[in-house]
Amino acid sequence: MRNEEKVPYVVTGKSFTAVAVNCAAKAGEWIKSRLGQFKKLSTKSSMHDLVTEVDKGAEVMIRKLIMTHFPHHEILGEESVEPGRDASQRALEQAQKAEYLWIIDPLDGTTNFVHGFPYFSVSIALAHKGEVIVGVVYDPIRDELFVAEKGKGAYVHGAPMEVAKESELADSLIASGFPTERERALPLNLAGIQALAPQVRNIRTSGSAALHMAYVAAGRLTGFWELNLNAWDLAAGSLLIAESGGRLTDTHGNPYHLAVRDIVGTNGHIHDAMINVLKEAKAQG
Ligand code: IPD
Ligand code: CA
Ligand code: CA
Repeated sequence: MRNEEKVPYVVTGKSFTAVAVNCAAKAGEWIKSRLGQFKKLSTKSSMHDLVTEVDKGAEVMIRKLIMTHFPHHEILGEESVEPGRDASQRALEQAQKAEYLWIIDPLDGTTNFVHGFPYFSVSIALAHKGEVIVGVVYDPIRDELFVAEKGKGAYVHGAPMEVAKESELADSLIASGFPTERERALPLNLAGIQALAPQVRNIRTSGSAALHMAYVAAGRLTGFWELNLNAWDLAAGSLLIAESGGRLTDTHGNPYHLAVRDIVGTNGHIHDAMINVLKEAKAQG
């Protein structure tokens, strides 16, 4: 065999974003086709942290597609990392050494998927030297594809997205979640919910952080916060919000980067007010 024949064939002529969209659409369609038909349910870091063979299969599908186009890129996928905070921090540190890093949550909202509650998503981001340059979140149930490219805006169904206009907490619909880590993050997040609920129009906890963030970008939610999320929950949504004119920090107001786990993403107008309420409630983490 001649030497050059050993070099793997690489499909050319496809942009990063096209590959991300293709991966999210394919995985999302497959996940939807498995709704109510998964075979194996297991728990990971706690009784609230679920995984099925569909999560794992979707990640394999996405990895294979990315590798076909970009065999030299690094991939950080939830289902290839040991459960828990420490392992995910270590995996991110290691993966971040790569110039191009794909960050994947193949199924964000596994609990909803398991119960047939139709709110979950596929989240795919590409970071270049630590900065997210492509973010795609796909909701296969509503067939909604949220796409952002660094410096080029964010779109849903091809239409540009803009964050919501509310400037007061009292007019805002915000979202959060119930963290899977029960000792520290769950009580803190509950304290935040208790403090914010009387001050906002209402709070949703619908079970997919990535989709909540896409909804902030689309102006359907005014803001979102949650403690102890992972890079794969946040990376794609972070670019969607930033490119839709919103603001993204940790719960103390420091700028977002890939290692941030305690997130606040809003339309910008209510950002400081939200953080102040969390601070007073000692719910910033
Ligand atoms: C979960 C979802 C949920 C959030 C949890 C996450 P998963 O991700 O984003 O909304 O509250 O903290 O772990 O496990 O379904 O990919
Ligand atoms: Ca997730
Ligand atoms: Ca997941």
